[in-house]
Amino acid sequence: MDICVVGAGYVGLVTSACLAYLGNHVIAVESNPERLNSLKSGAVPFFEPGLQEFVQQTSESGFLTFSDNLPEAVKKAQIIFIAVGTPSLPNGESDLSQVMVVARAIGAALDDSKRRIVVNKSTVPVGSGNWVEMLVSQGVQNAQKAQLVPARSGRSEGPSFTVVSNPEFLREGSAIADSFYPDRIVVGSIDEQATSVMQNLYKPILSQTFDAPSFAMRPHGLNSVPFIVTDLASAELIKYSANAFLAMKISFANEISGLCEKVGADVKQVAQGIGLDYRIGKAFLNAGVGWGGSCFGKDVSALMQVAKEYSYPTSLLEATVAVNERQRLVVIKKLQEELKILKGRTVGLMGLSFKPNTDDLRDAPALTIAYQLLKMGASVKAFDPVSNDICKTLHSHLDLIYADSVEDLACDCDALVLVTEWDEFKHADWKKIAKLMRWPLVIDGRNALDEEQVRASGITYRGVGC
Ligand code: UDX
Repeated sequence: MDICVVGAGYVGLVTSACLAYLGNHVIAVESNPERLNSLKSGAVPFFEPGLQEFVQQTSESGFLTFSDNLPEAVKKAQIIFIAVGTPSLPNGESDLSQVMVVARAIGAALDDSKRRIVVNKSTVPVGSGNWVEMLVSQGVQNAQKAQLVPARSGRSEGPSFTVVSNPEFLREGSAIADSFYPDRIVVGSIDEQATSVMQNLYKPILSQTFDAPSFAMRPHGLNSVPFIVTDLASAELIKYSANAFLAMKISFANEISGLCEKVGADVKQVAQGIGLDYRIGKAFLNAGVGWGGSCFGKDVSALMQVAKEYSYPTSLLEATVAVNERQRLVVIKKLQEELKILKGRTVGLMGLSFKPNTDDLRDAPALTIAYQLLKMGASVKAFDPVSNDICKTLHSHLDLIYADSVEDLACDCDALVLVTEWDEFKHADWKKIAKLMRWPLVIDGRNALDEEQVRASGITYRGVGC
């Protein structure tokens, strides 16, 4: 099929490469000239395991091309994906300005040659599908006016299109595998023809009949993926509810972790004990410094905003956010308990990204922790295997001392705090680290280290909820 994907950011680029790999002709439209040039020269402008090689491979095969010419790409395509960013505004609402511009531009570019499906892949508040439809229609009308087409009486017979919602559930760090082996594919539309075209597009994934790429092997035993057809509003709500539920699950584990510390229990054992109940499930019960990233905070706020428009209370969502805010600072409380005075101390942060295998610093707990420590008069060192440079550029106001290895980080530190559980940290040489530190203390903000090994090196170890 001929596909146009508008927006070559995280979601757009991964979607484009995957659809191209499956044999579709994909034009990824990117308006940022720097990003476009970088992609055309084969460089992916952010870190995602395997993506660089994958994009190169699909580009070389001729199935994936990059362009800034939206009208041309739209005219060629049968399916047009909107995959632009919808960042949070200060009041928690989603900033839909990019979606608005793109939807109108798509409308203005449509012609009568075929019926198009406009797919909303960007995470948008409930009801946005209808809004996008209106915007595409406005784009059509604007183009007609500009070409001085006489207004028809009654219902206009402009280019034919329909809008469907197709939320993404991919996680940073495993985006390619999540795209090829999703738990489900959701399409929101009451247009049967459109849902059948979408089902056809995703057929190789639904039936798992494609050759698995070497860098994203098919999970053992996976031979089909459920295809869920809903109405537009339900598809939009599925996306928000899924992320809100996952965030709530983590906040729940974190709340219990505090209680574990009071009563002398171990949250890892509690999580294992409750997670084995299949109704609860083991995933997303890891206690620590809490959730971050570009999605959870943004989606929970947007969901609360939608509810507010209907004067509908969202007590669970509010608690989810409150627990997470509090949780980020538990490591500071532990530092105070161990070191008493933080002024004049040197604390080393192991990791800056909001989670391992990404260079994404959006809503990263490390930034909150660093800011708070600096405010309290501590000196803060930091080392992240991939996001040191990005942090220097994006957060130059934070007075951090950047280290270029774990050992360099440990030098003269009064404490190390594990914030991002990169493998490199899990396999650190603790004996060597103990010798380099001024005071041998490790706060494991992700409960990810081998406690025995750290302690055996003569270091005081403190986890979360144990
Ligand atoms: C999330 C959703 O998982 C994905 O489906 C959606 O489409 C985009 O948002 P992502 O933000 O990439 O993906 O990261 P995810 O792996 O979900 O982790 C989110 C945050 O929760 C991270 O900060 C992670 O460290 C934290 N987390 C995760 C925990 O604190 N405990 C856990 O048990 C799991």
